[in-house]
Amino acid sequence: MSALQIDRITGSIGAELRGLDLTRVQTDGELQALRDAVLAHKVVFLRDQPYDTAHLVRLTEQLGGHGNTPFLESMPDHPGVVRVVKEAHEGGFNFGGAWHSDWSFQAAPPAFTLLWSLEVPPQGGDTMWSNQELAFQTLSAGLQDTLRSARVVHSAGWAYSADGVLARTAAGRSMQINTSDDALAEHSHPAVPVHPETGNETLFVNPTYSVRFDGWSAADSAPLLQHLYTHSVRDAFTCRFRWTAHTLAIWDNRSTQHNALNDYRGYRRELHRTTVAGSAPTR
Ligand code: SIN
Repeated sequence: MSALQIDRITGSIGAELRGLDLTRVQTDGELQALRDAVLAHKVVFLRDQPYDTAHLVRLTEQLGGHGNTPFLESMPDHPGVVRVVKEAHEGGFNFGGAWHSDWSFQAAPPAFTLLWSLEVPPQGGDTMWSNQELAFQTLSAGLQDTLRSARVVHSAGWAYSADGVLARTAAGRSMQINTSDDALAEHSHPAVPVHPETGNETLFVNPTYSVRFDGWSAADSAPLLQHLYTHSVRDAFTCRFRWTAHTLAIWDNRSTQHNALNDYRGYRRELHRTTVAGSAPTR
């Protein structure tokens, strides 16, 4: 039996877990309890876990294996492990600093993301998550029905194309990001997939990668997408996490969006990230 202790951090999403030591190999029962906690709470946090790349890689493999990580340079000798870093002297743009679901533009977006903090600012640098099952459940019944039959086109173009926002803000950035017009590729997903593990319906649109409704023009799509972007991150669906060094966060990309707050001017922040392979969203 697992001795996992679960303390929710808001009424809607997020829990701190205690009772797991990630420096040693987990039993099948512990891994199942961890997975169940991520599915139930959508994002979980384990504090006071000394960082080691080998432990991050092992847990990623145990949860389903690495997803495909485009555009971001992996650590030497550790494919799929990305340093999310902003130096103290860097101003401007931070990585992940807009609401999104990781790699939703892929044909099979990641199931989970793991993010392990090494160094965090004394003030600021929190991350927010939003529960996209609650976002869907709180729409009116008529709009829910419309969205159940809609598909949304996703693309990495705005962020990662050769003239996208990450290319235009590259000067002085220490994080290695390889922008390219490969980012202009598009994939269409159900607006409301059924979660492959929980069977729950979840809203699957985000302002970073969603482009338009499939079969609609961008202009026709914009008002409804904008309404969904605003609705999907209402305070009532969110949590905000104050990082301490050596904390691991694991979240379910299929049922959340997240946003890294860029409010730590003058301080260094470094976390290491992997994604776990997922499947094509369906309903
Ligand atoms: C990300 O979007 O993966 C980065 C989140 C963060 O740095 O808090």
